Amino acid sequence: MASFLWTVCLSFLLLASGSRGAAPRKPIDVPFGRNYVPTWAFDHIKYFNGGSEIQLMLDKYTGTGFQSKGSYLFGHFSMHIKMVPGDSAGTVTAFYLSSQNSEHDEIDFEFLGNRTGQPYILQTNVFTGGKGDREQRIYLWFDPTKEFHTYSVLWNMYQIVFFVDDVPIRVFKNCKDLGVRFPFNQPMKLYSSLWNADDWATRGGLEKTDWSKAPFIASYKGFHTDGCEVSVNAKFCETQGKRWWDQKEFQDLDAAQYQRLAWIRQKYTIYNYCTDRARFPTIAPECKRDRDI
Ligand SMILES: *[C@@H]1O[C@H](CO)[C@@H](O)[C@H](O)[C@H]1NC(C)=O
Repeated sequence: MASFLWTVCLSFLLLASGSRGAAPRKPIDVPFGRNYVPTWAFDHIKYFNGGSEIQLMLDKYTGTGFQSKGSYLFGHFSMHIKMVPGDSAGTVTAFYLSSQNSEHDEIDFEFLGNRTGQPYILQTNVFTGGKGDREQRIYLWFDPTKEFHTYSVLWNMYQIVFFVDDVPIRVFKNCKDLGVRFPFNQPMKLYSSLWNADDWATRGGLEKTDWSKAPFIASYKGFHTDGCEVSVNAKFCETQGKRWWDQKEFQDLDAAQYQRLAWIRQKYTIYNYCTDRARFPTIAPECKRDRDI
């Protein structure tokens, strides 16, 4: 009996911790300076606890931002962010990966602020070979200004997955077979920034930034990166195929993850370029797979 209970208990634990790729390998939090450097307006970044936490500041003179020291080809990247609290209308906080060249690849999280008590929008986008126009927008199921939440990207040869905490909110499958370019040979750096975008961000630009509420502050910690680090001009990663994110369980979402993604689709999605027939009379090829979800 005891051993039966033990087995039940153990399998429950395994299920609860996600036996099959439920969450990417647990991120390791490190100080800012280990993986990142400021990119502009250095005096608008504040450091706490030896750089284990930082704040970006936006005022009417400037926003600010930072980028990773390394360039990566595939991996898992995450950040804990607490968005600008209170009246954040007009502000945008971004966390993204981007390559340097003209036909660039990019994987974007953009958080669009709002008036006090009104919901943030999380906009995601994927650029491949310089082509974007793949916006999706969702509301979050929590207030992102109250606590730190984890925003992460898993990127391998098979898929790009956007996670909010442990929930996959978007998947961009490798649809090379459908003629869609997929990022695979241009290293990307990570970037984050806070800036004023009141010409478009909140209610399509109707709500302007209220500068009397400045400075606007977004807080960051975590600074985890776990990718194949290569030189900026590298075309491939030496250890391609051998790293944890290349393994079977990370090549597709599992059933539980698809269920959670379906939940996001039903309850939180505001906009999906895949269903915007007015803007795209011919739907993008990768959307054929997107619709199966
Ligand atoms: C801001 O709040 C308004 C009103 O609730 C909502 O329509 C809008 O989607 C919210 N978010 C943004 C970023 O505009």
